[in-house]
Amino acid sequence: MQKNYGIKFIGIGTALPSKVVKNTDLEKLYDTTDEWIYQRTGIRERRVVEEGKESGFSLSTQAAKKALSMSGVSPADLDLIIVATATPDNLYPSMSCLLQGALGANSAIAYDLSAACSGFVYAVITAAQFIYCGTYKNILVVGLDIHSRFMDWSDRSVSILFGDGAGAVVLQSTLAASDEILGYSMQSQADSKSDLVLTNHNIFYPARNVKISPNFTKMNGKAIFEFGLKIIPETINKTLAPTSLKISDFDYLIPHQANKRIIDSAAKKLGFPNEKVISNIEKVGNTSAASIPLALKDAMDTKKIKVPCKMLWVGFGAGLTWGTVAVNWNLKL
Ligand code: UT7
Repeated sequence: MQKNYGIKFIGIGTALPSKVVKNTDLEKLYDTTDEWIYQRTGIRERRVVEEGKESGFSLSTQAAKKALSMSGVSPADLDLIIVATATPDNLYPSMSCLLQGALGANSAIAYDLSAACSGFVYAVITAAQFIYCGTYKNILVVGLDIHSRFMDWSDRSVSILFGDGAGAVVLQSTLAASDEILGYSMQSQADSKSDLVLTNHNIFYPARNVKISPNFTKMNGKAIFEFGLKIIPETINKTLAPTSLKISDFDYLIPHQANKRIIDSAAKKLGFPNEKVISNIEKVGNTSAASIPLALKDAMDTKKIKVPCKMLWVGFGAGLTWGTVAVNWNLKL
């Protein structure tokens, strides 16, 4: 595509709920152990919103305010807000419109994007198109998911994995020659076997006096595991094919934090040494659309990454959806 402008990342902010749910807490809910969960997933604990105190709205607002404050962009100067989420507080109004109100971003257009765990990558790529063609200058992208509300806390095959959180970045237009996005790709394919599904039962049982089943995430863990392993190398290769870049040109890999075993196996296949693979899944679990910005910000805070650097962000999840953004990251704390 003809790029009239380039993208610069100028702010990042994250937010986690205060309540910690450890694997040892889950041992009290069903037959499992801390050791089993840690060995199979790399997770020790996750954060979960406290009803009435925290919500998707409160987390996305906190993350967005931090990202905006770092960027120096005033909410009034935002042109577009995209919240990537599959677990919004309401079906409508959108999380983005609520966030627009909370920030006072009165000149912005605001809409949500639903691509489950690929949401952050999809939203960054979508935002980039508006900047490349010169439509917008300042864009806020938020990855947000509150899976705990849609979790069957008696199902040990799913509830061990997910945690709640939000992560935001601010993108600004710059010269095309200084574009910090080095390449990207997005793909999707219908999940014909329903391997990862969160059904809105209210849609199917609208009549009164009909017992409504709760909305719970259902997952074929093995199938999604195989899918993740397969697509991570494929999407990176597809992203880099039209560029002159090789995998060895990248300093860090930040994959969606689905399961540490998926991350480690994919990194090994790609030849990424451990120290170049960013993961914070141990502390937060799988936070879906928030996982990449949460892992990135954690790596910045704990000085696991040296800036400037080249990074690969890889998202994959329900839909099925997947995609990669190759980034030249210059943002320092
Ligand atoms: O964001 C994208 C979405 N999700 C993912 O990426 C998830 C991908 N998949 C996974 O992470 C893994 O499939 C899980 C962690 C969910 C499950 O791990 P697994 O190694 O695939 O376990 P499994 O389902 O094959 O179960 C192995 C055994 C079974 O017992 P038997 O049949 O061998 O006797 C399960 O009943 O482990 C048992 N099991 C458990 N045991 C203790 C399943 N869950 C648990 C548990 N604690 N929580």
